[in-house]
Amino acid sequence: MPISGPKSYPGRIAVVGDLGLTYNTTTTINHLTSNEPDLLLLIGDVTYANLYLTNGTGSDCYSCSFPQTPIHETYQPRWDYWGRFMQNLVSKVPMMVVEGNHEIEKQAEDKKFVAYSSRFAFPSEESGSSSTFYYSFNAGGIHFIMLGAYTDYARTGEQYKWLERDLATVDRSVTPWLVAAWHPPWYSTYKAHYREAECMRVHIEDLLYSYGVDIVLNGHIHAYERSNRVYNYNLDPCGPVHITIGDGGNREKMAINFADEPGHCPDPSSTPDPYMGGFCATNFTFGPAVSKFCWDRQPDYSAFRESSFGYGILEVKNETWALWSWYRNQDSYNEVGDQIYIVRQPHLCPINQKVCREYFAAI
Ligand SMILES: [Fe+2]
Repeated sequence: MPISGPKSYPGRIAVVGDLGLTYNTTTTINHLTSNEPDLLLLIGDVTYANLYLTNGTGSDCYSCSFPQTPIHETYQPRWDYWGRFMQNLVSKVPMMVVEGNHEIEKQAEDKKFVAYSSRFAFPSEESGSSSTFYYSFNAGGIHFIMLGAYTDYARTGEQYKWLERDLATVDRSVTPWLVAAWHPPWYSTYKAHYREAECMRVHIEDLLYSYGVDIVLNGHIHAYERSNRVYNYNLDPCGPVHITIGDGGNREKMAINFADEPGHCPDPSSTPDPYMGGFCATNFTFGPAVSKFCWDRQPDYSAFRESSFGYGILEVKNETWALWSWYRNQDSYNEVGDQIYIVRQPHLCPINQKVCREYFAAI
């Protein structure tokens, strides 16, 4: 990676989530490779080995993925197949990975994430984290923060304290861009997994907002969605752009229904947080969907959404401008499906963010 500084950036950063190893995955990676990335971010759900029985046959036993199940059945050679498939790309292009729910692979003695933590290298120590679940790194003038959604993220926990320390040491004159990534999105309007990560949002959003995170990258939902700048469900020029890119090609079904369509709003009780044991996804107390769980139209914060397999490329041009492009698999590799410039305007926000940061320091 280029050394850190406000004038140097990796050329093209490819972003994928929920890959697995299917015909769709093959198209995604072929197109992505043709677009010659300099860095690859994989936002969780890597091989789906946990959807195969130990005899190697596929399983639709989705309940086996829930952590309440004593032991997950999983077929580890899927990791080897996937590694060999990816070798052509990752032997040339650095890849940074953060865990998804399919990497939990709970085993005897409560062991979790064993394959994930063993098969990838993480700059945990260099970034002051003692965990493979959360870490940070610089790529030129971008500071990346990778967060764990399936480990403790409460304000009293280790991850949160590490995040506070990490954010406090970021020098925006060296790394102007702050990009955060974790697996399940906070701002997805699809019915699948709707508001499932609300507890994480409640705990962490204010901290990220107070430091002016520019872009959030997520997976988990098997579709594409890009938000407007948003904070606490309100349009906010100082909030990040949230991008869900969980459409890498996995073997599960694609997400096609929206929670704001008639008959598709899930019941709040269907979205407890099974990992933290919390329940945060209650009806809205403000805004156009007040007293309801879902909007009755595409929410204002949702800018673009489409159920197609694909991947994204982020090109940071300078301290102010970054180009985000989404490519769908059914198009040719160089035909863009969604594209925007993301513009940093930190001079518009220091008061908001300073107030928020001081408020948090006080509680
Ligand atoms: Fe997932």
